[in-house]
Amino acid sequence: MCGIVGVTGNDNAVKILLEGLEKLEYRGYDSAGIYVNDQTGEDYLIKEKGRISELEKAVGPEVHGSTGIGHTRWATHGGVSVENAHPQYSQDHRFYLVHNGVIENFKELKSDYLTGTTFTSQTDTEVVVQLVDKFVNEGLSTKEAFVKTIGLLKGSSYGFLLMDSQNPDTLYVAKNKSPLLVGVGDNFNVVCSDALAMISSTHNFLELKDGEIVTITPDKVVIEDQSGNIINRDPFYVEMDSQDTDKGTYPYYMLKEIDEQPNVMRNLAQKYLSDNDMPNIDENLIKAIKESDHIHIVGAGTSYHAGLVGKALFEKLTNIPTDVHVASEYAYDEPLLSKKPFFIFLTQSGETADSREVLVNVNEQGYHSLTITNVQNSTLSREADFTLLLNAGPEISVASTKAYTAQIAVEAILAKAVGMAKGQIVADEFNVRQQLGLVATAMQAIIDEKDSIEELAKQYFVKADKAFYIGRGIDYFVSLEAALKLKEISYVHAEGFASGELKHGTIALIEEDTPVVGIITQHKTAGLTRSNLQETLSRGANILTIVSEDLAKSDDNIVIPTVDELLSPLVSVVPTQLIAYYTSLNKGLDVDRPRNLAKSVTVE
Ligand code: G6P
Repeated sequence: MCGIVGVTGNDNAVKILLEGLEKLEYRGYDSAGIYVNDQTGEDYLIKEKGRISELEKAVGPEVHGSTGIGHTRWATHGGVSVENAHPQYSQDHRFYLVHNGVIENFKELKSDYLTGTTFTSQTDTEVVVQLVDKFVNEGLSTKEAFVKTIGLLKGSSYGFLLMDSQNPDTLYVAKNKSPLLVGVGDNFNVVCSDALAMISSTHNFLELKDGEIVTITPDKVVIEDQSGNIINRDPFYVEMDSQDTDKGTYPYYMLKEIDEQPNVMRNLAQKYLSDNDMPNIDENLIKAIKESDHIHIVGAGTSYHAGLVGKALFEKLTNIPTDVHVASEYAYDEPLLSKKPFFIFLTQSGETADSREVLVNVNEQGYHSLTITNVQNSTLSREADFTLLLNAGPEISVASTKAYTAQIAVEAILAKAVGMAKGQIVADEFNVRQQLGLVATAMQAIIDEKDSIEELAKQYFVKADKAFYIGRGIDYFVSLEAALKLKEISYVHAEGFASGELKHGTIALIEEDTPVVGIITQHKTAGLTRSNLQETLSRGANILTIVSEDLAKSDDNIVIPTVDELLSPLVSVVPTQLIAYYTSLNKGLDVDRPRNLAKSVTVE
């Protein structure tokens, strides 16, 4: 969702801000803006609706400066308009503010403190910048006014970056529940919601904690806690190649990220497993899970779907009962818990507000937790007891692909490690390293056939208004993910269904030519899913099969290489990702940036 960038002490401020905003485009937004100041009294505020490219066009050659702030906005309070885009400013044009999050009591603050103030937007953000201005006019310093304003905000999640045009080399920063980092440069400093926005300027970043107030000048970063004590903190190094965030020759990030999956599998095998398949994972983590009596996996969207596969893996390999929860449901309706539950948070971004809300509760109750994430030092990583990184490289397309397969691979490695520690399985029984090698080769074989999958996408889905993916057990879990992928980027109303359940209602929706895809990778259920497909065929469906080689028949459509049945989702999902991609592409849609969606959902 909203993205924040800032820089002080660099004559290339405009370029740094615009490039940073481009890198944050993936988070989802509908307008953007920058404010820059050249320290001699010249300043510029430029805001536009739509893409960053529109903003770039509006930034003329005269726009220059060494300090500035920028923002991509995903509308919450107030519609999509130039007035509501950030930076928001005070009525005297002294203060400029960008903000991520929601101020729940902004209406009360407006009526309690700002009745005589002239507002230009409908945003909650403008209330904050007008309050700072009011308190400064009443005699406080900018920092004091900023701190006082923040103290008035109720139960809010926020990230703020404030500039005072009368003291323009200083940036004021505060955050609560919302991601914000300070990047340390050589005689300049930057601020961003995601390290990848600033990775071309620096690799050294300072983590900020909730409630801290940070004052940044070109050569200094001062972090203070809520009582005003100065905190000394060392930067951490972010290992990311700025090329990781480029599309290269690919038309869309999604295709690049699908193509990267075989390498992601190999890298994970190398990182977490020795040559003879012994897990290379923190022993304390293995012990904590081994001693638990119930595993709870929590996630949203695609991560939730990866969790469903995790349930199969953990129950089979560790014999520990496992439940999977949609984060937004769990947060407000906690199930009955056993004596020693262990929580696993699956989150590509590490920032999803719904998942974080659950983690906050889990921490309050003193339960142990692990975050499996793609983003080092992300909020959920910092707040859980343990972290396992996906090491998949930045995932930029909104539709998650390589993070899903990486999450399942990490779950498999972890389940094996715990299973061995419990004596539930012996080392050779489930050779994950070898299997991940086979998975990588299988994925590559499917990716190499992408042209024929594009043909199927054109034939079956481009003109469809609805579609079904069906399967049983693990294949059903993949059906859910396959349907999500198709609907989120191609806008075809797609559903994933337990194939046996179709006949209990949903089969009524099958009409002439409705595409129904059967996913068949499990010996136990292959015949049953085929029967369910036939039932839809008899009612006019246009059926298509994705089948493991060892179960394939001559008329199957997409035959995929066979791997261990427990790991089959890693392979069977790939054709469904490609189907979604090519359906979207052939409908002329913006594959990477589907309507209404955001990559990193930082509001509940
Ligand atoms: C958003 C994205 C999905 C993603 C979900 C969970 O809805 O559009 O692609 O699966 O958030 O995100 P997370 O970062 O927690 O995995």
